[in-house]
Amino acid sequence: MSEKEFTEVRIMSHRNLTGDIWSMWLDVGELAQYCKPGQFINLYCNEGTRMLPRPISICEVAKLTKAIRIVYRVAGEGTREISQIPVDSWIKIMGPLGNGFTLKEDKAILVAGGIGIPPMLQLAKELKKVEKTVVLGFRDSNTFLLKEFSSVPNTKIVIATEDGSIGVKGNVLDAIKAEGVTGDVIYSCGPTPMLRAVKNYAEEQNIEAQISLEERMACGIGACLACVCQSKEVDHHTNVHNKRVCKEGPVFDAREVEL
Ligand code: FES
Repeated sequence: MSEKEFTEVRIMSHRNLTGDIWSMWLDVGELAQYCKPGQFINLYCNEGTRMLPRPISICEVAKLTKAIRIVYRVAGEGTREISQIPVDSWIKIMGPLGNGFTLKEDKAILVAGGIGIPPMLQLAKELKKVEKTVVLGFRDSNTFLLKEFSSVPNTKIVIATEDGSIGVKGNVLDAIKAEGVTGDVIYSCGPTPMLRAVKNYAEEQNIEAQISLEERMACGIGACLACVCQSKEVDHHTNVHNKRVCKEGPVFDAREVEL
């Protein structure tokens, strides 16, 4: 099966986690064997709608049961429509798409905020033998996926909330400093200002950072160019300092991209 083909998959479970955050398990068959942390799938709304596909990151992969989990935020008409689809319905997807994270053996810091948090769960699970700290940023006490992260071996969890209701008051960088978090490689996903801070921090500390720019994506299939980011190197095809997040990413070495 090619990742570029459409696949009709069955929704095994679908529920609200908190606020506008939803979780869905999909019965994807053999496709589950090819999914890597940091990759995403494109979800297509029902026939008849002209809406673009929704790129949504893979949150968990269950190879044995041939299922994947996506956790997404309702942020507009398309995702609202998706959130209303009942269990046992069939939906069209394409994927896995994108490059995903490159897993290292080094002591790791996983830094994520908001809807950048879900892809870090599968990453944490695949880094199970690696000593790591997961630093998660939420707006307030409406957290999600904490139970799942706490059952991953060799994992310390640090939480930052904007309103200070749980963990360190402030952002993920405040939490890293307040808790004295250290590591030799950073993996990160979240809003652009957060990724910019992570990139600067990694440069200061002289450590590698792999950042996922998935929040910048729109169509997810290389068609709309809404996702273009500035790169240090000239792109081979276009000869300009541009990269499409959905095609060349969403994960980049932080030193390669301008934010
Ligand atoms: Fe449309 Fe990348 S999201 S081209």
